[in-house]
Amino acid sequence: MAEPFASFDASSSLSFADVDPGDDQRWSTWPAITPSERGPQPWPAWVVTSAGALDTELGILKTGKEADVFLIERAVPDDPTQRTLLAAKRYRSEEHRSFHRSAVYTEGRRVQNSRDGRALAKKSSFGRGVAAAEWSFAEFNALCRMWDLGAPVPYPVQVNGTELLMEFIGTDATAAPRLAQERGDRRVLADYFTQIVDIMRIFAAAGFAHGDLSPYNLLVHDGRVRVIDLPQIVDIIANPQGLDLLHRDCVNVCDWFIRHRVECDAEDLFAELMASSYT
Ligand SMILES: Nc1ncnc2c1ncn2[C@@H]1O[C@H](COP(=O)(O)OP(=O)(O)OP(=O)(O)O)[C@@H](O)[C@H]1O
Ligand SMILES: [Mg+2]
Repeated sequence: MAEPFASFDASSSLSFADVDPGDDQRWSTWPAITPSERGPQPWPAWVVTSAGALDTELGILKTGKEADVFLIERAVPDDPTQRTLLAAKRYRSEEHRSFHRSAVYTEGRRVQNSRDGRALAKKSSFGRGVAAAEWSFAEFNALCRMWDLGAPVPYPVQVNGTELLMEFIGTDATAAPRLAQERGDRRVLADYFTQIVDIMRIFAAAGFAHGDLSPYNLLVHDGRVRVIDLPQIVDIIANPQGLDLLHRDCVNVCDWFIRHRVECDAEDLFAELMASSYT
């Protein structure tokens, strides 16, 4: 695996000569980020914007086929008021990644820069790098869009090449459990189901399906359900597979709840969401 912080350039940090980033640290990447690659305004109060902040890698939350998720602390040394935890999702750009997110999701999505488009088509190494960054930008944009619509997604702090930084959902340094791990009583689970349907309604009303919704991409934190893993959200109408993917999301969610004795019907849910996406 590539050294996550290996590209840190110590020469750019001379103005903070009295603080030396350690091996697992870098200067905050926020100051160098293009404004359009920062999260939606207003920035939540907890977002640390100081150029004097350090990013410290605290550990890996999950390694995956396409991306690894790390826990990062962004903090101004000796200033406890400027300290926050972030989840850093880093898409793989090398050969050892095996994308399961197929062309199904990308139909209807255009690559803006034609050089990037040609490189992608030729699958050159530059093209593979573009593909990884395409996914991080796709997820960043999806998070921004859904955040603006009020959906309970992690706040997208910034995207920088293949790395997406977002709000860490958890308590202290422990990530919130996935819905798949929940063993609450039936009433609690029924409440989670209602929350998930509300999330699906927000997506559908904007014309989108999550596209990979499952109990693994739903986190439960303080009784509230948050949805993650959005790079493949699909336009229900423009994507020829849109309705199939929306249907699969409904089935994945309802199957889990039915197994946990919460009454629901995937076909009814699908019909309702489909209707709301056309109105
Ligand atoms: N913002 C976050 N806050 C806390 N934990 C997170 C966050 N984002 C991701 N995680 C953790 O990392 C895991 C993987 O994240 P995500 O589903 O986005 O990546 P993935 O590479 O698509 O993984 P998978 O292939 O398992 O779906 C999540 O199940 C969750 O445990
Ligand atoms: Mg996932």
